[in-house]
Amino acid sequence: MAGTYEPKVLVLCCGWCADAAADLAGVARLPMQPNFTLVKMECTSRVEPEFILEALRLGADGVLIAGCHPGDCHYVGGNYRALRRFALLRTMLQQFGVDPRRLRLEWILATEGPKFQQKINSFVETVRGLGPSPFRAE
Ligand code: FES
Repeated sequence: MAGTYEPKVLVLCCGWCADAAADLAGVARLPMQPNFTLVKMECTSRVEPEFILEALRLGADGVLIAGCHPGDCHYVGGNYRALRRFALLRTMLQQFGVDPRRLRLEWILATEGPKFQQKINSFVETVRGLGPSPFRAE
């Protein structure tokens, strides 16, 4: 339905960094698009490809993965693993006819509340511009 579409975004946050940045942004009352649901993960390396595909299948229009900066992962190379999976997933999405811009990966420190805010708002606007996911049942 044109004009009534509101994107649904899933945010998968590393609990060591981006989740704390989300808290910081919330405590500071930084204005953010309300179109996201946040799930705290132990590390971005925990994000399996099927989580993304299942989120899209269940109605998410986009998925943002947010983790520790390169070199800062608590599990040493977890975020590098996530980066490799991210690249593969974007290719896979394209092959399924899904715009790869529906998936984004960001590095956000625990102290970067304003960056979390900016990345959320920017991603929601990108997904809004893409329209509903082709997997959406509505
Ligand atoms: Fe944060 Fe690995 S612990 S990305």
